[in-house]
Amino acid sequence: MSKPGIKVFAPASVANVAVGFDILGFALEKPGDEIIIREGSNPGLVITEIQGAGGRLPFEIMKNTAGYAAYRLLEHIGATDKPLEMEIHKKMPFGSGLGSSAASAAAGVFAVNEFLNTGLTKQEILRFAVEGEQIADGAFHADNVGPSLMGGMLLIRDNETLDFKKLHIPHGLSAAIIYPHVEVLTRESRGILKKEVDFKDVIRQQGNLGAFIAGMYTSDFGLISRSLDDLLVEPQRAHLIPLFYEMKERALQEGALGFSISGAGPSMFALCDNSAIADAILESANRLYKDKKIPVTTYFSKINQEGAIRF
Ligand code: HSE
Repeated sequence: MSKPGIKVFAPASVANVAVGFDILGFALEKPGDEIIIREGSNPGLVITEIQGAGGRLPFEIMKNTAGYAAYRLLEHIGATDKPLEMEIHKKMPFGSGLGSSAASAAAGVFAVNEFLNTGLTKQEILRFAVEGEQIADGAFHADNVGPSLMGGMLLIRDNETLDFKKLHIPHGLSAAIIYPHVEVLTRESRGILKKEVDFKDVIRQQGNLGAFIAGMYTSDFGLISRSLDDLLVEPQRAHLIPLFYEMKERALQEGALGFSISGAGPSMFALCDNSAIADAILESANRLYKDKKIPVTTYFSKINQEGAIRF
């Protein structure tokens, strides 16, 4: 019989948020991944079970985002010999643009940190979660992992030092998430991006990012709305997503503050100043994709302020 363990949840997230490629992201209330950690019988961390991944995730600690994130923490505290068993319950789809590998990495390191009662804060273990996620997409950026672990909407000033700020969220801010069932792998979606961008677009995008943050702190929904315009990445990735521009037009007509790609896609998000608008967008999305016979899943969410939790 297995020994008692602890169970944690880490939520999905929306990265980039249109104007902050690799440096802006927020956590959702659902979906998310669950991980159980318990004492093992032999020295070292092992993954004993992976549910919900259709056999696509490796059991090797060094190749698994959750396993590796946890392992890096164990190395840090000098406890790699500690007998530990990890069970991973994937409750969200791969390649969805909702930070699936980031949620696993955040849950993995958080579960071990809680189980061993290390006394380290979430901020202190963030680097290990980002290193875990790096296995999946090859790049070191915290715009999914950060919110998934810490909760809220994070602006990452610098991905190397993980200097970030949790932003103020205006009352009423809600998200509508639309996930058409096609798989877009982050590694590939990053691979298609041009290495050079137009300087004029960078200037406008800087204006948008700065104004977006100012809008968040002053609850100025008009400013937020005018700012949510991605000149750099959305135009390069939109073709990966079925009916992207049709859906964007509908969302803006329904009253979204802004609409763009969630992370590397194919999920899309609309930010709204109230939940009724978000609901109307989701209804419209369900009609559009159903008409075109493309399976779709939609989620309504406020910004999840908690991030990873033990439950
Ligand atoms: N910022 C990342 C990207 C998020 O858009 O590629 C996905 O990992």
